[in-house]
Amino acid sequence: MKSAREELFIDAHTTYSFTSEPVTDAELTEIYELVKFAPTPMNSQALRVHFVRTSEGKERLLPLLDEGNRVKSASAAAVAILAFDTEFNEFLPEHFPQVPNARDIHQDPDKRFASAREIATLQSGYFILAVRTVGLDAGPMAGFDHAGVDAEFFSGSSWRSLYVVNIGHTDPEGQRPRNPRLNAELAIGWS
Ligand SMILES: Cc1cc2nc3c(=O)[nH]c(=O)nc-3n(C[C@H](O)[C@H](O)[C@H](O)COP(=O)(O)O)c2cc1C
Repeated sequence: MKSAREELFIDAHTTYSFTSEPVTDAELTEIYELVKFAPTPMNSQALRVHFVRTSEGKERLLPLLDEGNRVKSASAAAVAILAFDTEFNEFLPEHFPQVPNARDIHQDPDKRFASAREIATLQSGYFILAVRTVGLDAGPMAGFDHAGVDAEFFSGSSWRSLYVVNIGHTDPEGQRPRNPRLNAELAIGWS
């Protein structure tokens, strides 16, 4: 049996091609049930997730992806549209009661937008690890028409798309080799 560090980091790969094995709504829900525990600034939970797992849903999404990304999402059992809620601060009185005016710190709409995006980006990293934790594989992608996805899936809401993550079981035939990573000597400073 693999260790957690092997499952989540050392052996885990971005998936570009999936088998036809389905994933259940319970598995997809479990991903969020893990993500929600990950730490964020002032416990702000800006990440929102829209799971596309029907052929009708994919018909709406696939034309909005960069051309080279469509075949990847087509093979995935489910595609998560990760989004940020620009009104995330509404929940702060409940989620961070230690600071009673936490909601009002985010009154400036431009700064709130940037904060929502930053927090959800952090949570998106946790999301990829949560996919792996529940025994599934992930293919995150930023290459798509964000405004188009927002209009198609989030019209009239305060959600804005950030990434899509293909989810399912890896088809080993379709994997790319691991590219080199930056050495610790170049990436770490000490004092
Ligand atoms: C936020 C994000 C956006 C990405 N966007 C794309 C994309 O649009 N298309 C694509 O084919 N791969 C995309 N990737 C995949 C990366 O190229 C891949 O995760 C990276 O090269 C590491 O690959 P490995 O996990 O196999 O080592 C993206 C990955 C991340 C985390």
